Amino acid sequence: MATMADVARSAGVSVATVSHVLNGTRPVLPHTRQAVLDAIDALGYAPNTLARSLVTSRTHSIGLAVSAVSNPYFTEILQGVEAAALDSGYSLLIADPHDDPRHERKVVQLLHERRVDGMIVAPSADPRELLAYLGRHDVPTVFLDRLVDPPAGSAPRFDQVCAENAEPTAGLVTHLTGLGHRRIGLVAGLPGLSTTSERVSGYRHGLAAAGLPHDERLVVHGDSDAAGGERATAALLSLAAPPTALVTANNAMTIGALRALRDRGLSVPDDIALCCFDDFAWADLFSPRLTAVAQPSKELGAEAVRILLERLAAPDRPARTVRLPCAFVHRTSCGCPEDPAPGGERQRAQNPPPQHRKGTAS
Ligand code: HPA
Repeated sequence: MATMADVARSAGVSVATVSHVLNGTRPVLPHTRQAVLDAIDALGYAPNTLARSLVTSRTHSIGLAVSAVSNPYFTEILQGVEAAALDSGYSLLIADPHDDPRHERKVVQLLHERRVDGMIVAPSADPRELLAYLGRHDVPTVFLDRLVDPPAGSAPRFDQVCAENAEPTAGLVTHLTGLGHRRIGLVAGLPGLSTTSERVSGYRHGLAAAGLPHDERLVVHGDSDAAGGERATAALLSLAAPPTALVTANNAMTIGALRALRDRGLSVPDDIALCCFDDFAWADLFSPRLTAVAQPSKELGAEAVRILLERLAAPDRPARTVRLPCAFVHRTSCGCPEDPAPGGERQRAQNPPPQHRKGTAS
């Protein structure tokens, strides 16, 4: 196996120069740098990143802890993180805390002990142990998707990246009230997550904007997974006055809601209209095609890497929160009578969604 000394000899430079090219520790003249890279190529030299880390005390790795990596939303986030990390010469260590606060603290500790340069974490609904760990150890960390509130009165300590949640959810409700619905059920996510509370608050704003009262019985938590979505939908359907329309607050709960509706022989949108938070690759294959809010999943992942690398370069800059907009994907499960023009179904979610009024639902 070729060594650094072999590369240096072949390129006609010192071992130190090879090291500077590999580690970026000093500027190297372009033609010298190219000679080193050519020698590396010709000899098939593979740098020992562990040895390099001893010199730079950087591992050029990022730890990523996100729950439910099998959920397409998080899988796309992961793709965004991976591509952006690779572009900047970073590798990834991935862990799934399964939304379990204990497990979360453990995996974050393991990633830290692997000496990742920084971490991207989608915190669980109860991040107290996680925050205590990060408070004891100075690990540059970006929170992704779920925001963590700073203690009242204190400045945020962490960089955070998430999608808009409230406005797009309000937009779905406005779309349904515009179609005449007055009883709209919300299949809400796991309590304790900022995504859940923001989507619930968006739902309320949407109702208020239409002058509708808020009926607590129409909000049932589906715990962010398919089984929970099915249970919550069943509960909503067994109300004395069931909803005429449903908003499901994530993709997994949409699957659960569709199961509950199928089991009761209800058809969408004739018996009940459906609008979903989260678009996914096969949402347009359902019959009817699902009207949804699409999150910018890959961009969220890429943005988290960008902010983390900024933080590594400037450890003292103030923490900030970046929110990315969603898109309203207008299809037919909402009850609109026709498909929008081809290519015209996707709009920024904050704009008032289009209406195709078809009469009043009660
Ligand atoms: N957060 C935001 N969006 C989602 C989630 C989540 O945990 N799961 C599926 N869509």
